Amino acid sequence: MLRSLIGALALAMALADGASAQEPLKIGLIQSLTGPFNTVGKAVVDGAQLYVKQHGDVVAGRRIELVVRDDATAPDRAKRIAQELIVNDKVAIIGAGITPSALTIAPLVTEAKIATVVMVSGASITVDRSPYMVRTSFTLGQSSAVMADWLARNGGRKIVTLVNDWAPGIESETVFKDRIATSDAKIVDSLRMPLANPDFAPFLQRARDAKPDAVFIFVPSGQGGTFVKQFIERGLDKAGIKIIGPGDVTDDDLLNGMGDQVIGTVTAHMYSAAHPSKMNKDYVAAFMKANNFRPNFMLVGGYDGMHLIYEALKKTNGDTDGDKLMAAMKGMKWESPRGPISIDADTRDIVQNIYIRKVEKVDGKLYNQEFATFEAVKDPVKAAKK
Ligand code: PHB
Repeated sequence: MLRSLIGALALAMALADGASAQEPLKIGLIQSLTGPFNTVGKAVVDGAQLYVKQHGDVVAGRRIELVVRDDATAPDRAKRIAQELIVNDKVAIIGAGITPSALTIAPLVTEAKIATVVMVSGASITVDRSPYMVRTSFTLGQSSAVMADWLARNGGRKIVTLVNDWAPGIESETVFKDRIATSDAKIVDSLRMPLANPDFAPFLQRARDAKPDAVFIFVPSGQGGTFVKQFIERGLDKAGIKIIGPGDVTDDDLLNGMGDQVIGTVTAHMYSAAHPSKMNKDYVAAFMKANNFRPNFMLVGGYDGMHLIYEALKKTNGDTDGDKLMAAMKGMKWESPRGPISIDADTRDIVQNIYIRKVEKVDGKLYNQEFATFEAVKDPVKAAKK
């Protein structure tokens, strides 16, 4: 009698445990949580965690566990972490971060056949490096091409380009220059700055001396506040020079601290916290309830990265085989807080709307207000290679 009672009890407990009795399905996030790109990695992890909180941690009968690791903004460290995650932690899926880190882990995920969602890197080349990589962030080419096309339609200008010297910066400059070449706009100078701890002053001085109408600027997420401050301190705004470029510079989490001098700044980007959809309003409200800052464009890469992983796992019935997951991810389409997005089945790269936005004050706060949409933009660098 007692024995059968214990047996029944054990059975009931096992059933109640359900999915969690199985080994958890581990997703390794290799992100920059310290070092120069620390705000980027934290945003991506915040985005991924928000998604799990809203959608639950069980998918296709498997319990999801996020294994978050800090690459300290150092690619060699990212490589070591990837090895540990694959060999020791036996992660089923990886969420990759900034370009240098994503590039160093590409050969490892290829060898191990691990589906890897690139949640930050904006260099076109990244997803070319491994057939097991797919992107939910953006490419610099997408926003830079659209910025050029918009300028071409809105009258010629004298422009200085100013980017940081690394793959995303060079792609941004190259795509912008190529696209603007057929318009009335003229590039009067092209400057490249170091990526780490840049002193913008000498570059801003040189840009000012060229007397342009606008400076096309790409600085990575996290540097926009300092850049704009120095731009204003050096009097470029008073000289009538406009800031244009990818929206990384008027990053949502920093924008409100930049001052009213940025009002009117026009940029091209894939995400604004002011995107007027119901889905985005709910998403921003949910995030701001738990955090006292605005979700920026990096956060949505982590959020959508998790969506892609969840939906792919549903399709494979929880099978984490890299080839099956990649097949499930290719061609996936969904509505993101940024608007409609999809994964190009040929390139594994993201296809998304790029919006032209202008900084405006709404209810006493600065926002990137979208006013024109370029729909379903593909990465122009890959398109040109075809
Ligand atoms: C990148 O790692 O490619 C990256 C990081 C920050 C940005 C844009 C691109 O703002």
